[in-house]
Amino acid sequence: MKHGREVIVRPARSVRGTVELPGDKSISHRYAMLSGIAEGPSRLENYSTGADCASTLGCMRTLGVDWERKGNVIEVQGRGLALSAPAQQLDCGNSGSTIRMLSGIVSGQQFISEMVGDDSLSRRPMQRVIQPLTAMGAQIESREGRLPLRITGAHLKSIEYKMPVASAQVKTCLLFAGLFADGETQIEETLRTRDHGEVALRAFGAEIHRKSTGPGMIVRIRGGQRLRGLEAHIPGDLSSAAFFLCAAALFPDSQLILPNLLMNPTRARLLDILMQMGLRISVTSLEEIHGEMVGALQVEGGALKRVSIAGADSAALIDEIPVLAAIAPYTEHGLEVRDARELRVKESDRIATLCENLRRMGAMVEEREDGMRVPGKQNLSGAEIDSFGDHRIAMAFAIAALRARGETVIRGADAAAISYPAFFEVLEQLAER
Ligand code: S3P
Repeated sequence: MKHGREVIVRPARSVRGTVELPGDKSISHRYAMLSGIAEGPSRLENYSTGADCASTLGCMRTLGVDWERKGNVIEVQGRGLALSAPAQQLDCGNSGSTIRMLSGIVSGQQFISEMVGDDSLSRRPMQRVIQPLTAMGAQIESREGRLPLRITGAHLKSIEYKMPVASAQVKTCLLFAGLFADGETQIEETLRTRDHGEVALRAFGAEIHRKSTGPGMIVRIRGGQRLRGLEAHIPGDLSSAAFFLCAAALFPDSQLILPNLLMNPTRARLLDILMQMGLRISVTSLEEIHGEMVGALQVEGGALKRVSIAGADSAALIDEIPVLAAIAPYTEHGLEVRDARELRVKESDRIATLCENLRRMGAMVEEREDGMRVPGKQNLSGAEIDSFGDHRIAMAFAIAALRARGETVIRGADAAAISYPAFFEVLEQLAER
């Protein structure tokens, strides 16, 4: 993908309005994959509008799954567990979720799949799925743990696996592979990660067992279970909402209403952190849909106090740290991020790209191997920002720009389309000047 578009963001006085977010990216990927291997039709309303989730749908089509888009609804004809041998490569684009989770499904098929992606994805580590999938019996060739992956599927055997990195993508990959294995697969995470894989499998009719280990979780799945199609409305993406929530936190006069938002407890740590920082958030409704919590939020701006993110929080907030870091200079005492080495292997090296762009806006920042420290009470100036092809970097600095002196140019702003194509238009509507 080329990241040629430039967007200019002007300072604002507040953000006000109502925003309905497109469907959550993590849930959209999982529902698209599971509806393909389920029996019968599925109807996925409010499917993510992002390019990443389109990559998943493209791969499912290449694997013989018929689906049709009708507005924001995707109708999928499930094929059951056996997919068709792909006549071409599976193009995962920029999407780590697509390649990691889908590798679990193609490993259980009786054919060879070749998985490729863009330059950013081709730099990201895949050993974390290659190693356990190989232990289950798949044969995987890679370029030293990186793309392209050539996966020869097999009749898999179950494993007991303790994950060395906290990754929901890897956990989901192995749960999906577990569906194709003899016996019961057990996965242990030592730090809890988002549980949409487990919740989605249950929604599609699979039995999953979970046991808390305190900070972590043990999850078990029996192989050979058949899935049934699902009719679902996908709740709004909380990680996309994070940009507007942080924008609201910048101005005492802000007022936002966010209906139909994902409130899964493994994703909602951001709300606690923002409330600690001084944002006033009330949850005006809450219900459970297919195992996922969905709510409406009413948000009012406040003061901006200190934040510190470390340990389990770094895993829980991994997608929201970019925007929290981008607004950190405006807080009273700054931000400290530790134990977040994983940020270095996301769509960009997010520790480096955050520090670089913060400096371009005139901020002082201390880069560390596993995080950063950003002092508070700093004034930023409009600057030329580079998204480095990373959607969350492009959007994070659009938020920082709202309180900067002068205009900010975001280069490579079209990266936002990876998760939220309408982001800049919606931000323009919300910003009061
Ligand atoms: C995701 C998990 C996270 C996150 C990514 C989506 C998921 O990655 O960064 O945007 O849907 O499971 P890791 O689990 O690899 O940290």
